[in-house]
Amino acid sequence: MIVPPPLRFGVLGLGRAGVSMLPALRTHPHAVVAAAADLNPTARAQFTRDFEVPAYDSAEALCASPEVGVVYIATPHQFHAEHCLLAAANGKHIVVEKPLALTLADCDTIIDAVERAGVTLIVGHTASYNPTVGAARAIIRTGELGRLRLINFAAYTPFLYRPRRPEELDSASGGGILFNQTPHQVDASRLLGGGMLKSVRATAGVWDPGRRTEGACAALLQFDDGAAASLVYSGYDHFDSLEFRVSTEDERSLSLTSHGATRRALNEGARSPDEETAMLSAMGYGGPAMRSVGPGGMGMFQVELGLAIVSCERGDLRLVADGLIIYDDEGRRSLPLRYDRGVPGRGNVFDELRSAVVDGIRPIHDARWGKATLEACLAIQQSSKEDREVYLSHQVTVGD
Ligand SMILES: NC(=O)c1ccc[n+]([C@@H]2O[C@H](COP(=O)([O-])OP(=O)(O)OC[C@H]3O[C@@H](n4cnc5c(N)ncnc54)[C@H](O)[C@@H]3O)[C@@H](O)[C@H]2O)c1
Repeated sequence: MIVPPPLRFGVLGLGRAGVSMLPALRTHPHAVVAAAADLNPTARAQFTRDFEVPAYDSAEALCASPEVGVVYIATPHQFHAEHCLLAAANGKHIVVEKPLALTLADCDTIIDAVERAGVTLIVGHTASYNPTVGAARAIIRTGELGRLRLINFAAYTPFLYRPRRPEELDSASGGGILFNQTPHQVDASRLLGGGMLKSVRATAGVWDPGRRTEGACAALLQFDDGAAASLVYSGYDHFDSLEFRVSTEDERSLSLTSHGATRRALNEGARSPDEETAMLSAMGYGGPAMRSVGPGGMGMFQVELGLAIVSCERGDLRLVADGLIIYDDEGRRSLPLRYDRGVPGRGNVFDELRSAVVDGIRPIHDARWGKATLEACLAIQQSSKEDREVYLSHQVTVGD
């Protein structure tokens, strides 16, 4: 049997997302890190030393490289549309970080470009790639627990106090949780619920006058078959839903005094936007504060989903760090999961891309799917602003 060659990835953007994705690329059996590009010379130099492949100083040079078959776009939101068009024009397949773009019009331009170029685009990574979400979806699809009725995600994180570029604190430029964390919750809900949301009612909060972007949100998403998703997120660094990850062992090892630590570190390290941007740069590739995600890491616990319970007519599923717990009429049982192609969640992004490119299987998280997730996130913002339910019109099904 002829084994198709691994996909050759060019990493566009060596900041936090790039740093998190590289271990997944490095450990995936069907992926090769072929090149990178970033504006930051320190990141480029360190990357070339580590991977012994070129690091370009422009997106144009990376997208033109014959060594690259797939461009993984991990640049800030506002560049996603431009960089997708550039990659598509060069005939490259694309993995683009969420959100696909910041407007529905830009999503349409991207959809046109990839369709015309005949390349595959998937929007990843989102929490919906997590193997626990996939396993929950598989159980829902068997019908053994009856119809899906309710999804409950409740996440509490230090999101707002991680070092940020100024535009990440400006909602109009895609800052705040609605474009950064809510897409994870919306995307996973849509995957579990079949994709077709009907309407959204939400309240989002800007609670810190020093960081004037949405840091908290409660949203009710209604599917067209009557199922609902309740999404709660707070990024204000008080309670931390990592506590929901607990097994007995975790409980002992988890430092419960770490709450608020991210805000304290920011307050101590950054007294101006420039100092904050410098703190952020230090987290990029080769920077002194670089932290990567290894195959062990958080296991399969999805920080962005937090407490995650999926209710069907005859049973509940709880998503935990090492699989699912199923509660039905017979009692409670565990379904441990293993992911053996590197980093769970992130590795699954490459699995989906490869199935599309090599086996011709239509990806779930394509550009139309990404547009539908963005539509729901924009509707959450609008619902909160206008204090009313917002109806959706660009939703697509999971496609099965
Ligand atoms: N899925 C996840 O878990 C996850 C996590 C973090 C970020 N993200 C997403 O990744 C994207 C990047 O976020 P980040 O937190 O890594 O930002 P970041 O600021 O840490 O990194 C962005 C990098 O892109 C580089 N860059 C900017 N413009 C460029 C250009 N024109 N050409 C080449 N390089 C350029 C910067 O120098 C920087 O190194 C965002 O869309 C964000 O939503 C996703």
